[in-house]
Amino acid sequence: MKNKNKIFSYPLHPDDYSREDINSGIKVLKSGQLTMSKKTRYFEKYFAKKIGTKYCLMVNSGSSANLLALFCAVNPLRKNHLKKGDECLVPAVCWSTSLWPIIQAGLKPKLLDVNINTFSLDLSTIKKNITKKTKAIMIINVLGNCAELDKIRSFADKKKILLIEDNCESLGSIYKKKNLGTFGDFSSFSFYFSHQITAGEGGMIACKSEKDFKILKSLRAHGWDREINKRNMNKFNFINQGFNLRPLEVSAAIATSQLKRLDKMMKIRSYNRNKILKNLRGFDNWNNQFDFFEPQKNLKPSWFGLPLLVKKKYIYKKKKFLNFLKKNKVETRPIISGNFANQPAIKLLKIKIRSRNLINSQEIDDRGFFIGLPTKKLSKENINRLSKLLLKIDSI
Ligand SMILES: Cc1ncc(COP(=O)(O)O)c(C=O)c1O
Repeated sequence: MKNKNKIFSYPLHPDDYSREDINSGIKVLKSGQLTMSKKTRYFEKYFAKKIGTKYCLMVNSGSSANLLALFCAVNPLRKNHLKKGDECLVPAVCWSTSLWPIIQAGLKPKLLDVNINTFSLDLSTIKKNITKKTKAIMIINVLGNCAELDKIRSFADKKKILLIEDNCESLGSIYKKKNLGTFGDFSSFSFYFSHQITAGEGGMIACKSEKDFKILKSLRAHGWDREINKRNMNKFNFINQGFNLRPLEVSAAIATSQLKRLDKMMKIRSYNRNKILKNLRGFDNWNNQFDFFEPQKNLKPSWFGLPLLVKKKYIYKKKKFLNFLKKNKVETRPIISGNFANQPAIKLLKIKIRSRNLINSQEIDDRGFFIGLPTKKLSKENINRLSKLLLKIDSI
């Protein structure tokens, strides 16, 4: 980036592995202990301490964490477990594997509209949409931001509704002095490439009770009890149904090394975000072409990317604009996956949608996209180049 002649490119996410990250992975490879073992257990404890919770279990992806949350919720070993056909509220701006596990576990998803500022569910929307059948809420903390989670938590407690917090995009954010990912009865995290920390692939599931923790352990590995009852380590004792969602030891080692750098990476992402916004707003032709994603009140955000909403008058040329950015080496992507109600799989699975109610979700789909927010400081020159390209929305 120091070389002025270097061709400009602004990827969604540049490679993000430090020498320490790579070396800790190599050390594991050389040790021969590739399957889940001590490094994974160490990482689980370190992670739990870092976010201020007690029970954390590493899995091979954020999707697997959501899958385990839902399968634990319906598991017969769980007291008051959810039943087939119970309803689970879920925001329409969601990731596929925030939604699929609800269906895979036999529950009925109800897609709700999101708040236009936080891209997440509002308590008022939840209140308007619960019925006697509503037994769970899947809340998603989008790109480092969140809803009023304390109020949603209290409401869920009052109504005895299970709260699942998909925190795959928001590791490190702190709301009212509590880490995101500590509000749900279950919370998921992703360490996929481009997330706040990455191990290439990987995920974590956090829960609130020891009982759930034990169920999750059995579900993670075949339904076995060997992780629960160490004396049964060599017995082939199956106490539950299950999957094999175990992580690799290498992923745990790399993720541990990344987690050590999380605070530093968060600071740089914030720095880059502030610089880009300030730079854009400083141009003579800045004309509020975009709305920015502002953090929820009382939130210390851990940013992921930089979401932008084009002004309504530009919706008709958003596609052309994104192509223009692509040609000029600025990578973009939708906000999560836009309004999920528009996805072909919704029809395939015959999921009932009330599109008329998904006004904000559709607006985010129509107006929104996001660009990356690197974990290395951007140069002044590159911020300028990026801003100039973004401001071309007026003239293309
Ligand atoms: C909100 C949300 N949930 C779940 C996931 C799934 O995580 P993974 O890619 O680790 O399976 C993602 C992926 O980025 C996500 O954005």
